[in-house]
Amino acid sequence: MSTPTPAPDWDPRDPAVLQDPLRAYDTLRGRCPVAYSDYLRWSLFRHDDVLRVVLDAEGFGNAVSAHVSIPNGMDPPEHTPWRALIEPYFAPERLAAFAPAAHAVARELAQGLPHGELEFMDGFAHECAVRLLCAFMEWPHAVREPLRQWTRRNQQATLSGDREAMAAVAFEFDGQIRAQLDACRRQPGRDDATSRLLRETIDGRPLRDEEIVSILRNWTVGELSTLAASIGILAWYLATHPAVQEELRAHAELLRPAIDEILRIHPPLLANRRVARHTVRLGERTVAAGERITLMWASANRDEAVFGDPDAFRVDRDPALNLLYGAGLHVCPGAELSRLQLRIVLQELLAATDLIAPVAGRAPVPAHYPASGFSLLPLSLRRPAALDVRQAM
Ligand code: HEM
Repeated sequence: MSTPTPAPDWDPRDPAVLQDPLRAYDTLRGRCPVAYSDYLRWSLFRHDDVLRVVLDAEGFGNAVSAHVSIPNGMDPPEHTPWRALIEPYFAPERLAAFAPAAHAVARELAQGLPHGELEFMDGFAHECAVRLLCAFMEWPHAVREPLRQWTRRNQQATLSGDREAMAAVAFEFDGQIRAQLDACRRQPGRDDATSRLLRETIDGRPLRDEEIVSILRNWTVGELSTLAASIGILAWYLATHPAVQEELRAHAELLRPAIDEILRIHPPLLANRRVARHTVRLGERTVAAGERITLMWASANRDEAVFGDPDAFRVDRDPALNLLYGAGLHVCPGAELSRLQLRIVLQELLAATDLIAPVAGRAPVPAHYPASGFSLLPLSLRRPAALDVRQAM
């Protein structure tokens, strides 16, 4: 007997939810922590429910889509060798080797910022994310604009739920990446990440092009959407919390925990999916086998039961409780790369300014699901006089 479809408890695409997702999720966490919607099916808003699901890979699977998605759409045992294959790309020595290039990208952009007002997302955050990705991957400048366009269309297609549009956008991305594979094949001596992927083997055979494209699509989404959102969120937080801004200007060693904490308060990634393998009780609700579950990171990380006041900024929290980069088998392999890049971006941004402030009368415009952060972020920057003199020379 099939389980009847529950009546919706909420609508993730309701304009009020899209306008202020964090407040809407905060309310649902108290009112209906395991909530059904036609769009996302079962959404989990509480920290302990999300953690229970991500730590139980037997009970909850990741293979939610018919499309290959390496490694996040896979379950063990298939997931295990792919995960082992990609982890070395984010090893500490690789990240240390990349740090000077990341500083160069962030410094050039930060020092080119105007004195006065700017729209920070287009004027800095998106550009910074795309350039950092291209620097990490050693991809040519020519792919920056197509990647920027692709990220925008990918988010629009995901929000609309239009499967054809999503497939078309994926196809477009594949074309860009295949061109990079061809370029690497023409220069067999190269040692960049794409060339190394071309030399990898799995089960004793080389990777197929569509597998490399899938791996790189995962990295690109992490880098372009989530990193750009994070940069915007961090800049807005500093602009609206001048005491934190001052403290971080004086104490660079606090940047790492402060960044993780600000992104706990205002998460750059709203959600990920799972599928229930068996009929299961979650909270007070029964979720049928085969049902789709949405892990609401953006709510779990603000759960009062774990963090007290979700908006209280504290750099001494237990890092293990912060689900910014997930937990369990699928925990983000790019977490240390992200942390490094965000620290470098903030260092360079703080060095290139002596004040980041909101613009009176011009509030930011929130980004819409599945994106987080802001689509428009007006900020006012005060540049140190010494920097302007250096630039004028
Ligand atoms: C602020 C930036 C980022 C955040 C907040 C973030 C967050 C996350 C989270 C929460 C997961 C777990 C997903 C799940 O359990 O279903 C995840 C997985 C993943 N992330 Fe990130 N990520 C970020 C940046 C990156 C970057 C820069 C890369 C690579 C260049 C990356 C690559 C991946 C991959 C490949 C997975 C799937 C891992 C697996 O399934 O084993 N992420 N990320």
